[in-house]
Amino acid sequence: MVDRIAVMSADVVVRALRAAAEPTRLRILALCARGELTVSELVHVLGQSQPRVSRHLRLLVDGGLMERFREGSWVFHRVVHEGPMAGLVRTLLDGLDPADAGLAPDLARLGEVKEERARAAEAYFRRNAAEWDRLRGLHVDDGEVERRIVDLLPDARLGTLLDVGTGTARILELLAPRLDRGEGIDLSREMLAVARANLERAGLSQCAVRRADMYDLPFQAGAFDVVTIHQVLHFADEPGRVIAESARVLRAGGRMLVVDFAPHDLESLRDEHAHRRLGFADAEVEAWFRAAGLKTAARQHLSGDPLTVGIWLAGKRPAAERTLEEVN
Ligand SMILES: C[S@@+](CC[C@H](N)C(=O)[O-])C[C@H]1O[C@@H](n2cnc3c(N)ncnc32)[C@H](O)[C@@H]1O
Repeated sequence: MVDRIAVMSADVVVRALRAAAEPTRLRILALCARGELTVSELVHVLGQSQPRVSRHLRLLVDGGLMERFREGSWVFHRVVHEGPMAGLVRTLLDGLDPADAGLAPDLARLGEVKEERARAAEAYFRRNAAEWDRLRGLHVDDGEVERRIVDLLPDARLGTLLDVGTGTARILELLAPRLDRGEGIDLSREMLAVARANLERAGLSQCAVRRADMYDLPFQAGAFDVVTIHQVLHFADEPGRVIAESARVLRAGGRMLVVDFAPHDLESLRDEHAHRRLGFADAEVEAWFRAAGLKTAARQHLSGDPLTVGIWLAGKRPAAERTLEEVN
């Protein structure tokens, strides 16, 4: 960690430390380290005016500690996760006590913001569980996506598979004939009810679903040969953390397949379908893979109108290889 910091010039480090050396800005850093946030979310959590929060954010971005990116009408802010500055940010934040009187109320309010968002998404899936299989195919050709998934996982036997955010268990159904065991997890009881009915009707006794949170999977490290995350990440507050937690339960040499939208500007998906993110660029997904000890093996794009689907396949690197890269 120390040698990562040492590769920056003294000027750069001084500018970064100056940016961080102010109570509100340190609070912002601590909040954004827990997921990317919009200005209005930060205004709500910090209880300060929008111009003040924007000014602090600008200084943090100028100091190299944070980055901002626009998606439709929303602008997200997050702490940098790669490069030498990420090491400096981690060092600053690791030493911060979350129970500190200046920070704990912020973290509690952030928890409320996230819970409110999760409730809205859950309500959406509750309303739409019965109709989900039709809704899923509304913007993309499901059949073509599924053919690509099958092509990217060509093995005669796939072993054990976890489908994260399984919804109606379509991915389990698709791959079940080649599975020794398939598990699906989802937060929505209504989606799980449809999933159970689908698996039962198809007679897929090697597959089961259960209620669990994708940020805290109820499985041991290395439990699965394959993990799939199909059209789930755009609902996530912290997509990188979903990938990291999924990578944890993957065995070394195991594969992760992520399917989601490429960047788009269909803002209506936020209002009508509870999406948080408007798709993902290859670089973003692949940075999350790297951070989780995964190596990109394939990326494909299925162009559609108005949405393009991205499919990303990665392999989990053996522990020894991952440690070697950390050291270097
Ligand atoms: C768009 S659906 C996709 C379902 C399925 N993978 C498919 O492609 O048909 C997203 C699913 O993610 C689930 N989900 C959202 N947040 C979750 C969380 N924190 N933990 C587990 N599942 C979650 C939702 O309940 C929903 O069923």
